[in-house]
Amino acid sequence: MNNPAELVVPRVQAAIATAFGEEFRQTDPVVRPSQFADIQINAAMALAKKAGLPPRDAAAKIVDALNLDGICTGVEISGPGFINLSFDGTWIEELLNAEAAEAASKATAVTPAAAPQRVVVDYSSPNVAKEMHVGHLRTTVVGDSLVKVLEALGDTVIRQNHIGDWGTPFGMLIEHWLEIGEDSPEAALLVDDPSAFYQAARAKFDSSAADADGFATRARLRVVALQGGDEETFAVWQRLVAQSKRYFNAIYSMLGISLTDDHIAGESSYDEHLAQLCQELEERGLARISDGALCTFPDGFSGRDGQPLPLIIRKSDGGYGYGTTDLATIRYRVRELGADRVLYVVGAPQNVHLRMVMATARDAGWLPDTVEAVHVQIGNVLGEDGKILKSRSGAPVKLMALLEEAVDRARAVIDASRPELSDEERAVTARQVGIGAVKYADLSTGHDTEYVFDFDRMLALSGNTGPYVQYAAARIRSILRKAGVLEQFTDGGAGGTVADGTSAAGARAGGPATAIAVVEPAERALALHLLEFDTTLNKVRDALEPHRLCGYLFELAQLFTSFYDQCPVLKAEESVRESRLALCALVLRRLSGGLELLGIETPENM
Ligand code: ARG
Repeated sequence: MNNPAELVVPRVQAAIATAFGEEFRQTDPVVRPSQFADIQINAAMALAKKAGLPPRDAAAKIVDALNLDGICTGVEISGPGFINLSFDGTWIEELLNAEAAEAASKATAVTPAAAPQRVVVDYSSPNVAKEMHVGHLRTTVVGDSLVKVLEALGDTVIRQNHIGDWGTPFGMLIEHWLEIGEDSPEAALLVDDPSAFYQAARAKFDSSAADADGFATRARLRVVALQGGDEETFAVWQRLVAQSKRYFNAIYSMLGISLTDDHIAGESSYDEHLAQLCQELEERGLARISDGALCTFPDGFSGRDGQPLPLIIRKSDGGYGYGTTDLATIRYRVRELGADRVLYVVGAPQNVHLRMVMATARDAGWLPDTVEAVHVQIGNVLGEDGKILKSRSGAPVKLMALLEEAVDRARAVIDASRPELSDEERAVTARQVGIGAVKYADLSTGHDTEYVFDFDRMLALSGNTGPYVQYAAARIRSILRKAGVLEQFTDGGAGGTVADGTSAAGARAGGPATAIAVVEPAERALALHLLEFDTTLNKVRDALEPHRLCGYLFELAQLFTSFYDQCPVLKAEESVRESRLALCALVLRRLSGGLELLGIETPENM
């Protein structure tokens, strides 16, 4: 941890304790950015009220007790009682060089979280025999980034892909599959165009509804057989689910998502526990029959009519639903997986459902107060018309086609701008940029806000976009390459990263790395921002907001651009050049390492 704004805190707290008494030692100094100095401390105002002093006098008392030797050159009281602090340049330089050395050694690249946790993360969670829609795309992308940040900070993460692989539609899907033949071209739709497969089964079902021994009847019997444990039906169901996994995995591999089949714990895996779970809730008086259905009525939820809202756990026909499964799921995550924190990276429209599940689980004692459960709400992705993104025909958008279009568009740009690169190189960059742009668009707005899916905007080389940040990194690679030090700083491979940042000039050569001198204002601004990397990651972990990391990287790319405009690197005289190259290398390490935590690759050339 080399962030000066955080390192100052204990000193300010010590001064507050001296000035106002020991009982005030834990006071939050309220550190904010300042227009006139590096930071400002705003705690004096609140303390003044408590002590019955004019705020400026309270500030003066703190300043008198403040020991900032060696770390601040300026201390000033301004306005109603702000304390403005300016850091000592030598201190900043020391911190930055410590940061560079840490960034270069894999073990300490990131300061671990104070108290690592066991975190279960439910994300992606698509449905068998259905197209993954852009909402699933977003929970997949946001979830995968959260998982990476948490792991980088030392948490033990357990990924859970809660796929929809159970329930009444499976009768119809299995019957349809058997009828058309598992090896037929129509069956292949399950992997290539699952919506079309589902629609075909649905159409058959609807048109045969009136027919006593028609498809619909067979489909209903099939559900009974499946849920009754009929072996043959179960085997067919397993093969059908396996086909859907091929489809999910094709999407995950296109996107570079870290989910594998090992992370699948679908709805079906909880089925055997549901009856007992309902019985337990009923016996303990936590659930009661209402309109024929067994329901819980957790506190704090009411419908439009003001009546308590039910969470249905056993339908009037005896069947179990989504809520029942989710209760069994949360209990499993606490009891069996030993979670300290359970995250649901799931669409915002499911908020009431998930909160009711959590509330019922708390009432039942399955979710103790020591375990935090959070719904990381994912906002809708809209089309240009401001409505949920749909294809022209109104059908759900085919995700694979959407991703391919992003890559094609990126390819057209790179073909025009870098014709001298080989076909292979351009293909690789186009994939990294196209996919990176889509992911970055999902990540850079608050996860709970809606946004409009717009290729032109997400692929733009300016603004808070994936390509802008990737371009800054690629540009630094090219500077280091021209200076002949790229290999030395990056292992020659895909750039120094948090996960793989094992090499640094010094570490490899066994000697000290070049010291970075922080002299020009642009260098200082860049240095101060670089020192906030760990703080940013910890904020992402606490608030579960990857967009903060995007904002950090965007600002880093901008600060780098102004530094590069104002401070010559390759043309500077020897010692300055060395220092600036080392600074460039640290920026590259943070850009590519940060992108990696977002699940985005850094192109070799762009
Ligand atoms: N399969 C659900 C859907 O597509 C999402 C599941 C989210 N996870 C959960 N535990 N309910 O909407």
